[in-house]
Amino acid sequence: MRAEELLRRYLEQRREMGERELVLDDLTVEQVMQLIGAARADAPARAAADWREALAAAGVNAPTGKPAVPAARVSESPASAPAVAAEAITPGIIVGGDPRELFGGGAMEAASLDDIASLVAACTACVLYKAAKNPVPGDGRAGAELMCIGEGPGASEDETGHPFVGQAGQLLTKILEAIQLARDDVYIANVVKHRPPGNRTPAPDEVKACMPFLVRQIELVKPRVILALGLSAAQALLTTKDSLGKLRGREHRVHGIPVIVTYHPAALLRNPAWKRPTWEDVQLARRILDRPSGA
Ligand code: URA
Ligand code: URA
Repeated sequence: MRAEELLRRYLEQRREMGERELVLDDLTVEQVMQLIGAARADAPARAAADWREALAAAGVNAPTGKPAVPAARVSESPASAPAVAAEAITPGIIVGGDPRELFGGGAMEAASLDDIASLVAACTACVLYKAAKNPVPGDGRAGAELMCIGEGPGASEDETGHPFVGQAGQLLTKILEAIQLARDDVYIANVVKHRPPGNRTPAPDEVKACMPFLVRQIELVKPRVILALGLSAAQALLTTKDSLGKLRGREHRVHGIPVIVTYHPAALLRNPAWKRPTWEDVQLARRILDRPSGA
């Protein structure tokens, strides 16, 4: 059997199993390349009834059904195109289900991002408004394909009322440029919308009080990918206490929306060694954005 035929059958079976993202479990790109080469050189003469058999016949261990750590993603493109794409992204935490049942709806009635800004400006649900100079609701437009979520406004943000305009913000702009996104293409917000005094980490009750705003922002923006910047954003979004190290490098989902976790740009300013992993994380976000819509 020709390699293309083998792959076509494999992909058809995965599609029948209801998969829209096709992942060659446990196969590295190298193995798949080998598979294609091997199948060309000494193709099994008989038609394999099952793709596992076919793979085994070509000298590759059949997938076990275990979640695959680096696996090869294969596009559904016709056999004429190269079938092997980049490595799959390891799945992570899943919060909520269908995006249509987003966040229980009623939490926040705001009809627009401007409405949220007005509600944030008037909010006294936690103590943070008391010491803050300005509310910092978020910047960007509904429909932005990427949404970046930080922890909370710092001094520059508190002064201006805009998120990520200080040093960390300038670095964020550069990080976004590295994945061909202009700041204007991105919705930028924080978990808490008023500055915590002295840039302290927001307290759990402050996060809880502010969360409905963020949730409604996500509903209204409907980003294709969320980039959680730092531990506060990641833990709040994914309702977890896991460490950043554990949360990075995975594709989490919040009500169907992919969430990628990376270091906070302020942390990168303190520790430049984290720039490389951050670059890798944002490439994951880029790859998700580059997927065909609905994939
Ligand atoms: N750090 C954050 O988490 N958010 C900002 O808006 C600025 C710095
Ligand atoms: N939070 C951070 O982590 N950094 C800032 O600059 C402001 C808030």
